[in-house]
Amino acid sequence: MPTELQTRHRLLRADARRMAAVADASVNLVVTSPPYPMIAMWDGLFGDLDPEIARSLADGRPQEMFARMHGLLDPVWDEVYRVLRPGGFACINIGDAVRSFNGEFGLYANHVRILDHLQRIGFTCLPAILWRKPTNAPTKFMGSGMLPAGAYVTLEHEYILIVRKGGKRRFPPDEQPRRRESAIFWEERNTFFSDVWTDIRGSRQLLEASAGRDRSAAFPFELAYRLILMYAIKGDMVLDPFWGTGTTTLAASAAGRSSIGYEIDQALGRLAADNVQAALAGMQNLLQARLEAHLQFARDWEARKGPLKYRNQHYGFRVMTRQEQEIFIDVPSVLTLATDDEIVCEYGGISFDGSDETGGLAGNQAMRSDPAQRLPGPDRQLKLF
Ligand SMILES: C[S@@+](CC[C@H](N)C(=O)[O-])C[C@H]1O[C@@H](n2cnc3c(N)ncnc32)[C@H](O)[C@@H]1O
Repeated sequence: MPTELQTRHRLLRADARRMAAVADASVNLVVTSPPYPMIAMWDGLFGDLDPEIARSLADGRPQEMFARMHGLLDPVWDEVYRVLRPGGFACINIGDAVRSFNGEFGLYANHVRILDHLQRIGFTCLPAILWRKPTNAPTKFMGSGMLPAGAYVTLEHEYILIVRKGGKRRFPPDEQPRRRESAIFWEERNTFFSDVWTDIRGSRQLLEASAGRDRSAAFPFELAYRLILMYAIKGDMVLDPFWGTGTTTLAASAAGRSSIGYEIDQALGRLAADNVQAALAGMQNLLQARLEAHLQFARDWEARKGPLKYRNQHYGFRVMTRQEQEIFIDVPSVLTLATDDEIVCEYGGISFDGSDETGGLAGNQAMRSDPAQRLPGPDRQLKLF
């Protein structure tokens, strides 16, 4: 049987430049997206933290603005380094900015500036992901249009910088079963570990109605969820120092990892149980869809090339590699507000009733299942329990 799981999610309404509540080397993964320097929507926040920024904006001194804005992010990256365990990853979603000052259009390369600082303070830099955002207007152009030579390329991607504190993480024997259960499917690996992500569209969220969403520049749930699956195992601690609307917390709960968030904006920093509760059904559907996608992949593969070689022990369906045999997807079932700033998440699972070419009934018999909790969806073989 899979290991028992409970996760905890804490939000601190405070400035992440000093994360006093987080002990040294206590976090396994950081997934975050800071306010983007030189993007106008964040001028106010940066200006409140450093009044010189508002003055340099008024006086048209963009290089000084750029330097000062990053000067406010640097201490957060220093704290990220301190709290990460050796071998822990940080994944930072950041976009560059383009903007005109004094009639001069130019690029402000946030990703270069942040990467430079991360390397300086000791992080090992690893290949980054380009997150290609869908274009919405084929006619958009900047500059001189069709006439050479004064048009500018449109920025249609953001970065996910990936860095690690020191060398490879070592997994002691007691973490090995959880690591094997946390494996991803072979076909997921092929998409997740590509250096260009084109399949994450817009900012589909589990909590559409969340307060302040317009101001928050939230990243898509799938982005955080995917990074957590890639760089942490179940039960790990994930930190987001720029919590916003809490996408990282939701993704961590869905992935069976614990989380801690910092948020300076008091209007955003809410960890309301009913809010998270509202996301529960969304998470359950998403996890079911993940298993359905695997079953579809297995059916397509087997129709073309014959049976997959291995069988997953918990579900009984077939998988491509030996490493996928113990995958088990914990599904959030109960969320309770433990204190004002902490939520506890408990888990059930999904059972698989397949008796076709994708695997037979083996493994399923041992799992509790309640037909009344059958989820809607194209694949009637999956049930929540
Ligand atoms: C780009 S948003 C993050 C959005 C988040 N990823 C989400 O999905 O909702 C950046 C957030 O960082 C917060 N922030 C900025 N500076 C901060 C600081 N020094 N400490 C804590 N939070 C900060 C902002 O208020 C904003 O909510």
